[in-house]
Amino acid sequence: MTTDASALPVDQRAVDALAASGLRYGLLDTSDRAAFEAWFAADARGFAESRISESVMASNVEHLAVNRTTGVWDDSIPNAEVPVATVNSWVTELTVPGPVVAPAWAVSSVTVAPTHRRRGVARAMMEAELRVAHSAGVPMAILTASEATLYSRYGYAPATSAASVEVDRRRVSWAAPVPSGRVHFVEAADLLPDAIAISARAVRRSPGEVARWTGFFPRYLALNKPGSDVARALRTVRYDDADGVAQGWAAYHIDEKGPETRVLMVDVREAATDDAARGLWRFLLEHDFVTSIHADLRSIDEPLKWLVDDARGVRWMHVSDHLWVRILDTAAALEARRYETPGALELVVDDPLGFANGRFLLDIAAGGRASVTALDDESEPTAPVLRLSVNDLGAIYLGGYRPSMLAAAGRIEADDAAIRLADRLFAAERTPHLSIWF
Ligand SMILES: CC(C)(COP(=O)(O)OP(=O)(O)OC[C@H]1O[C@@H](n2cnc3c(N)ncnc32)[C@H](O)[C@@H]1OP(=O)(O)O)[C@@H](O)C(=O)NCCC(=O)NCCS
Repeated sequence: MTTDASALPVDQRAVDALAASGLRYGLLDTSDRAAFEAWFAADARGFAESRISESVMASNVEHLAVNRTTGVWDDSIPNAEVPVATVNSWVTELTVPGPVVAPAWAVSSVTVAPTHRRRGVARAMMEAELRVAHSAGVPMAILTASEATLYSRYGYAPATSAASVEVDRRRVSWAAPVPSGRVHFVEAADLLPDAIAISARAVRRSPGEVARWTGFFPRYLALNKPGSDVARALRTVRYDDADGVAQGWAAYHIDEKGPETRVLMVDVREAATDDAARGLWRFLLEHDFVTSIHADLRSIDEPLKWLVDDARGVRWMHVSDHLWVRILDTAAALEARRYETPGALELVVDDPLGFANGRFLLDIAAGGRASVTALDDESEPTAPVLRLSVNDLGAIYLGGYRPSMLAAAGRIEADDAAIRLADRLFAAERTPHLSIWF
């Protein structure tokens, strides 16, 4: 399997399809600084963001040059150096049930200029990504989505949920055991090495988390915006356990919404142990001077209500899909994760784009490792059978959605015994969760 996505050739089918509409699709040479800056300008414009400042641009150029960076150019327009569409991808590590790490093709920066939308540009690029990832032997593609209606058509499905949480500080008091470690303020630049090390351990604890890339840290520590209002407002802390080992970090700022309303906004909270997660929450919740604490992209199983005396002072909002998974190689993906219990199941997968379809025997041994055999059309089933689309396979893959729920929705076809077995086999040891956008 190739892990350097940037080295793979551009997809010729997409080149031809877009050339037929007068557009030029290609791989960007990220060592060409002017062209790379124009690409970032298109990306920001596509997401309706402001123009990128010099320091953020410098950080982007430094940290994202290793990715596979593709664009579509229209040579007939003014400022033709700015692409009319962008996509960025890389092979990353996704934590899957076990927890163990599996390779995944991360897709990001999907934009098409408002002047060129709704004429098939995104479809050409998204399908090209899948073909390139599949031919490189990467078993699945993943992304986070700005809208829930965009990516099912390419075989992706939501595989994790996330929620925002708001805690009324005046209502709640800490009601859990007092964490044994300590929280220290550490300036962002000094925190950087510990933040990188803690995050690397933290993401391996939960299915659904994705390895952080080097550019993640300058961005969330506001090191890419020196002297800015954002950098001045950001506070950064580290949690050290009782033995003095750095096990968690958080970045937050306080939003002054009115004379009586100050919200502590948690920008990042990464914890390599449950003790560190509790220690950071206690620090954040016991902040004087603020009226509430707000955090986005939290796990729907975050035990916050169990940490405080008044559980109704913790309000969950905006539960939403977050990580989307697209299985590209059914056997490799199923073998990459672990299972809680032994058993055998036949999966009949329908994939209209032709990457993952077929009949597969999933055979899980004691210890949770699986071997998967592709079956021919004629052989008799030897295990209970589940018929499902590639989307539904992506939805159940990390254990975030139960096969029985998708069967109840009329999406998975199987008898009751097969569904019950599938629920048990696909369950994850921890509710899958991704706590960042990418
Ligand atoms: C979303 C976006 C990339 C779509 O680009 P596009 O070139 O207009 O898309 P296409 O013309 O290739 O459309 C492909 C399919 O998606 C559908 N589609 C496109 N935009 C859609 C939207 N906003 N909501 C629902 N469906 C959409 C099209 O109807 C088409 O469907 P079909 O091929 O199954 O008939 C573009 O509108 C964009 O840049 N939006 C702002 C940035 C953004 O949200 N990017 C996604 C980041 S996750």
